[in-house]
Amino acid sequence: MAEYDLVVRGGEVATGFGTARCDIGIRGGRIAALADRIEGGASTLDAGGLLVLPGGIDSHCHIEEPSRGGYVSTAGTPPVTVNEESFLTASTSAFAGGTTSVVCFVPQWKGEGILPRLADYEQRAARGMLDYSFHQIITDPTEEVLEREVPQIVAKGIRSLKVFLTYEPLHLSDEEYIKVLVAARRNGCLVTVHCENYAAIKWRTEALLKAGMTAPKYHAWSRPGIVEREATHRAIALAELVDQPIQVFHVSCAEAAEEIARAQHRGLKVWGETCPQYLTLTGADMDRPGFDGAAFMCSPSPRTAEEHGRVWEMIRRGTLDIVSSDHCGFSMGGDRGKASSGRDASFDAIPNGIPGLAARLPILFSEGVSKGRITLDDFVRLSAANPAGLMGLAPRKGMIAIGADADLALWDPKKRVTITNKLMQHAIDYTPYEGLEVTGWPVATVRRGAVVMRDGVVQAEPGTGQFLPRGPYAMATPRGVLAHGFDAAPAPG
Ligand code: URP
Ligand code: ZN
Ligand code: ZN
Repeated sequence: MAEYDLVVRGGEVATGFGTARCDIGIRGGRIAALADRIEGGASTLDAGGLLVLPGGIDSHCHIEEPSRGGYVSTAGTPPVTVNEESFLTASTSAFAGGTTSVVCFVPQWKGEGILPRLADYEQRAARGMLDYSFHQIITDPTEEVLEREVPQIVAKGIRSLKVFLTYEPLHLSDEEYIKVLVAARRNGCLVTVHCENYAAIKWRTEALLKAGMTAPKYHAWSRPGIVEREATHRAIALAELVDQPIQVFHVSCAEAAEEIARAQHRGLKVWGETCPQYLTLTGADMDRPGFDGAAFMCSPSPRTAEEHGRVWEMIRRGTLDIVSSDHCGFSMGGDRGKASSGRDASFDAIPNGIPGLAARLPILFSEGVSKGRITLDDFVRLSAANPAGLMGLAPRKGMIAIGADADLALWDPKKRVTITNKLMQHAIDYTPYEGLEVTGWPVATVRRGAVVMRDGVVQAEPGTGQFLPRGPYAMATPRGVLAHGFDAAPAPG
């Protein structure tokens, strides 16, 4: 009998601390050996001339989630209008882009507890092929939910509570947010926060609509950076009051990131995430003719090319230490898509969110490593090691090390590809990155030792994805506290 199920031969293995040319011996889905030369594999995967990266971990993905209206229970029968990406199609898309694990979101209908939706969501997720864990969205923080149900989900290994400070009907008041922070602290959960000021966006939206400014581009006008900065500041201040760690999701601009940097500089446990859309897309994309601008609508809104440069700087400083996709796919057409309220609907009626699961790693690699903005080690940390650390998935996930799950992306750093929707292999009828040229592309993906993608062809059995129970937040990352920016750079301003 062969000693290893699979040997990955001759690649340049990226450890997050430089690279080493070596073979990887895989047994039982885990990395069993790293050595110059490993013999005795039942099969071999040639990685000559390629980088071998840890499989991507996308810690912010919306899969099979309802659109906003769906968060309100109607007489005990919630309308289950979920977004179009199923766990099956999301798995295909993830593998096509070199990602092997996701952390996605269990909804809570307002007026209900969290356990019924969790039971439903567990069944949905189990049909996919990629490994997964959950953030639990809290839209209705009742005593029953916080006192009795949260301890039960923590016992299952769900270690983060997600809150929205904007969006009707999801947003929490300050009072409700504080209650969630207190419950998280008591139960050892991370709190992940969508930071935009609800009242300010409502006020600006009403004024824009009254003035007849209804086209998709006005979405950006309704939520300038200041509404993100204010909510980020408030989210951090209240978390400090309660002494509860938080992660600020999808930071789009330096003025919000500076709030995080100041908090980190003062030693607070505050982490910041950004996404490829805030490094490549701009508000001007929403100013395309007719309804086309809706393709780029997400919240916070894409900003400007100058802002991209500032966000990169915040990545380099370590203030923003995770790049996730915030994959939230709505097709342009179809009855669940962006145009479901009509192609002349005002911007506030168009579903927010864009797909990016498959595009995340190629864009981060190309715009980051290939263009010399970040190092390969940075890439490994931003895309896999740091999400594994902060989400409590390390050391099982996020690193190429003996004993870790054999999740790998074999990467051709020189391959030039023009992104098309077909390459994304998702269920959505477009990609906002259509036509973007990237240098660096995944040529094979390995999930727990199984080759699940080769040259763009995904092959995996539905139902083989595993639920990942998580440990406490903020386990050490390979860069230790430096990864969190505490002492990486002086606070700006
Ligand atoms: O526009 C976005 N980001 N939609 C997805 C939900 C969220 O806010 O993360
Ligand atoms: Zn959000
Ligand atoms: Zn999101």
